[in-house]
Amino acid sequence: MSFALEIRNQVDLKGLNTMAVDATARQFADIESAGQLKQALEAARAQQLETLVLGSGSNLIFAGDFDGLVLHMSLRGRSWEQVQDNAAVLVLAAGENWHDAVLYAARSGYRGIENLALIPGTAGAAPVQNIGAYGVELCDTLQSVTALDCDSMAVITLAAEDCQFAYRDSLFKRNPGRYIILEIRLRLSRSAPLKLDYRDLQDYLSDCDAAELTALNVAEAVMAVRRRKLPDPETLPNTGSFFKNPVISQLQFDDLQKKFPEMVFYPMADGVKLAAAWLIDQAGWKGFRNSRVGIHNRQALVLVNHSGGSGEDVLALAEDVRGSVKEKFGVELEIEPGVVGTC
Ligand code: EPU
Repeated sequence: MSFALEIRNQVDLKGLNTMAVDATARQFADIESAGQLKQALEAARAQQLETLVLGSGSNLIFAGDFDGLVLHMSLRGRSWEQVQDNAAVLVLAAGENWHDAVLYAARSGYRGIENLALIPGTAGAAPVQNIGAYGVELCDTLQSVTALDCDSMAVITLAAEDCQFAYRDSLFKRNPGRYIILEIRLRLSRSAPLKLDYRDLQDYLSDCDAAELTALNVAEAVMAVRRRKLPDPETLPNTGSFFKNPVISQLQFDDLQKKFPEMVFYPMADGVKLAAAWLIDQAGWKGFRNSRVGIHNRQALVLVNHSGGSGEDVLALAEDVRGSVKEKFGVELEIEPGVVGTC
């Protein structure tokens, strides 16, 4: 680790976003400690430059260049705390790779995050979206988040209850620019029940004796299921689900279900959540492609960059998809990844 902060000019971001769109940062710094983060923020403020916190760019679309300072969160480190017979707290620095951490926990015999295997991104980005898959969300095991509060410039620790977690939502997402996550703590267990309810996972594991399964077995099953449906950003650039699953009122749902009885939905406390993938698929988009970008042919919720598509190309396609879903079903889709920079 180097202690001196290095700020570089005109840095190419194409390799730092999983949609692989071209974009340049006016300034760029690798951040390896809280001290470097404070220095970088001071440098940005002195020049009146905007900042952008970047993990591995797996949930972000560059609409154009970024005319500010990119803070590339490269803080590393993982350790265990409060180790008891059956439980322990896994501490992850913000720049740790999420999937590696999942495998590390599972190989150490701890349960709680195995269903979140293969989600691209860093540990520090995980609470922002409250990442979730196969019936598990990060907030199920998250104990606390340590962050720099950019208003007071103090390092604070927020308990999970204070993070306003909801489906793909959190305090961090609702207050962009206020908190920069430095470290997260996850409460894991050696004996908690494995969560195997999700249909795809159940089907994959149907020949196994559930009582014999380990966290690592489940992580491997999740990896296999994801690989069957979701494109690997290394070979086909994408940012995972491009839209959130929309939640509509019971009234609107009752009306829609009369017209589309086979519609995929999940009842919620405050309405009904629809499968956006089903809506997009039914609107005829699955497998669509133009010369540069398209909709994945095995999961309609994923936009992919086939060949040199720009952020503008991706966002134009997303608008077309939103428009046609709105027209056919009267439902508004919300884009999941953050959009940064100007066209
Ligand atoms: N479906 C279609 N057409 C498709 C794909 C799916 O009709 O092309 C239908 C399926 O038959 C299924 C329903 O839509 O009944 C839901 O599909 P799936 O189980 O694949 O899940 P999803 O709601 O599309 C969510 C998450 C994924 C996560 C999976 C598994 C969101 C926005 N997405 O997708 O998360 O992996 O569940 O838990 O909540 C991500 O966030 O990047 C991501 C991949």
